[in-house]
Amino acid sequence: MKTKAFILDDLKKSMTPERFAHTLGVMETAVALAKRYGVDEEKAELAAMVHDCAKDLPEAEQLNLAREFGILLDEISVVETALVHAPLGAALARIKYGIEDQDVLRAVRVHTIGDTDMTTLDKIIFLADYIEPGRNFPGVDRLRKAAFEDLDQALILACNSTIKHVIDEGGLLHPRMVEARNYLLLGKLKRGEKCEKKSKR
Ligand SMILES: [Fe+2]
Ligand SMILES: [Fe+2]
Repeated sequence: MKTKAFILDDLKKSMTPERFAHTLGVMETAVALAKRYGVDEEKAELAAMVHDCAKDLPEAEQLNLAREFGILLDEISVVETALVHAPLGAALARIKYGIEDQDVLRAVRVHTIGDTDMTTLDKIIFLADYIEPGRNFPGVDRLRKAAFEDLDQALILACNSTIKHVIDEGGLLHPRMVEARNYLLLGKLKRGEKCEKKSKR
């Protein structure tokens, strides 16, 4: 595997300055969350570092590379091409940087739409991407607070917010994100945990 210093330097050259700043923010937040939830900080830092390594490639190149690497893209990802960089990023992280750690690669693969049965590392990367210090959207402070109090609750809130946004924009909603959200919510209900729910009208 390439050293972290090499990877970071390579990312700096291949990303826009904004994306690189975002990457550093995600790394910082991911390490803080890893500390909070007892997850391997090295893995969290590495996954955060490479999570968007494919994002600034031109769209056509992303689709070509995905085909070349044998990544099966579902119908929605072919249209909503912003989704491609997650599985492609995992493949690139392995091929370009020699990262073989499956936990790290999986966290990169699922960082955009989530998955059912996410590991704590998966959840940390997903949320760190959402709440890193450079993010600014209504409700981000509430989400930042929630992330350090109740990881699943924060993830549910993040999914809610993304799902609402996709619908408002008239985009295609990836069913896996709905599944991820429902899975987390069901888990909470089964454990008898309190869920933030509006009272019935
Ligand atoms: Fe991303
Ligand atoms: Fe990101």
